[in-house]
Amino acid sequence: MRLELKQIGIIGAMDDEIALLLEGMPEHSVTASAGIEFRVGKFQSKQVVVCKSGVGKVNAAVCTQILIDRFGVDAIIFTGVAGALDPQLNIGDIVVSTECQQHDMDVTALGFPKGTIPFAELSVFQADPELVELAYSAASQFDGQAVRGKVLSGDQFVANRDTVEQLREELQGTCTEMEGAAVAQVCAMNGFPFVIIRSMSDRADGSAHMNFTEFTQLASSNSYRIVEEMLRRL
Ligand code: ADE
Repeated sequence: MRLELKQIGIIGAMDDEIALLLEGMPEHSVTASAGIEFRVGKFQSKQVVVCKSGVGKVNAAVCTQILIDRFGVDAIIFTGVAGALDPQLNIGDIVVSTECQQHDMDVTALGFPKGTIPFAELSVFQADPELVELAYSAASQFDGQAVRGKVLSGDQFVANRDTVEQLREELQGTCTEMEGAAVAQVCAMNGFPFVIIRSMSDRADGSAHMNFTEFTQLASSNSYRIVEEMLRRL
């Protein structure tokens, strides 16, 4: 690996998304900052900082910047669940981010294309290619589909077909969630490697709220297994 990974930051937004990681690191120290608990310890014999950011882009952005500034991690992995946008994806399948964009960045009234951050150089943030390949090859060990694709993020739980079609057509999203593009943007601003790993808890359609409740644990566990395998291979 080109990247030298001495310490890795691992973020999930919700308890379910980090529960298995914490089980795998029974001994760790806890430091709180901005109301977020950062758990420093070893997982799969690797030095890690695991944290629950909370839901949404602001929480994810604050968490990411603290990981970079205060904990000196070398890369960030996000693990969690998402709503599928690609109709080929089934519940439990994995999306490894190649790139991320905020789908709710909307300044179209001033002539900016949907998802474009005004006056910024970048609105689509590239994940680190080595981390992407590591995650993708780790994912191909498991049953179920794993794809590389574009992760769209917004401060909204998407639960209707029209929005799914719009997000696919306008922004070519593979899945949608509420944190990845914020992590990605903060990492890009700091010149920092990241990858987002998401397992599908729902299809972001009219059944999404029920599927999310039923499948979040399963999907969180699938995403966790990829992270576990990645760290084993490092
Ligand atoms: N996370 C999991 N499913 C989601 C959805 N449908 N919309 C936004 N975030 C999600």
